[in-house]
Amino acid sequence: MNNIEDEFLDLIQENTKPLDTLMAYYRCAIMEVETKFKVLNEQFSLEYDRNPIESIKTRVKSIDGIVKKVHRKNIPLTLQSIEQNITDIAGVRVVCSFPEDIYLLADCLLQQDDIRLIEKKDYIKKPKDSGYRSLHLIVAVPIFLQDEKREMKVEVQLRTIAMDFWASLEHKVRYKKNIPENEAEQLAVELTECARISAELDNRMQDIRNRIAAAEKTGTDDQIQKQSRIISGTLRKSTNR
Ligand code: GTP
Ligand code: MG
Repeated sequence: MNNIEDEFLDLIQENTKPLDTLMAYYRCAIMEVETKFKVLNEQFSLEYDRNPIESIKTRVKSIDGIVKKVHRKNIPLTLQSIEQNITDIAGVRVVCSFPEDIYLLADCLLQQDDIRLIEKKDYIKKPKDSGYRSLHLIVAVPIFLQDEKREMKVEVQLRTIAMDFWASLEHKVRYKKNIPENEAEQLAVELTECARISAELDNRMQDIRNRIAAAEKTGTDDQIQKQSRIISGTLRKSTNR
């Protein structure tokens, strides 16, 4: 590890400007993707009177994180190779209330003609063994610079509040180094059970929301029918006179 850290220090020192520039491009790509989601949220709130997005979190991977990943993936230590092989330097996490909104937002994003899908991993339909659920997209988005257009990769993670709550606790446990082995095993079992409960909660909350929407529609339809009966009754009376 020391060796790679030394090598990376050399790379950083020799490429300060290009590295800073690359990181700035990733920040720009994050702004583009975040804006796209904010626009969709705005539009849905106008159209359907509700916000599908609870919150959006963004981050650029730390240099330390990039070094670790270069090491783990055993890829060449060049900026070109980092840009090509590490697809989660720019990260956007979109948290929704309901599972259906995740697919709605993902579809809307992927339909946009400047977004290119590189990879999709659906850990909601097929959760990880840990119990982890989220929809992951790796997309390429163009950023428009002074005299060039550049495609940048962004990792988008879409989750519900329940999935996010679970993942942040599990992440804490996963990276705690000083938990005794048998306690760590029990916690893993407990977390898997919580993942199952949170998936069930998501499904039931979604079901409740769908029933509310259906009931509202029936209510509106009944009201329309009642009103049209009153109107036609009034018309009949006035024509009989
Ligand atoms: P990486 O090389 O680590 O990016 O793995 P990958 O390319 O197979 O990516 P994957 O889509 O599996 O996961 C990438 C990201 O998803 C991670 O950096 C985490 O943010 C999140 N993630 C994936 N699995 C888990 C998990 O079991 N628990 C938690 N808390 N987060 C996870
Ligand atoms: Mg990844």
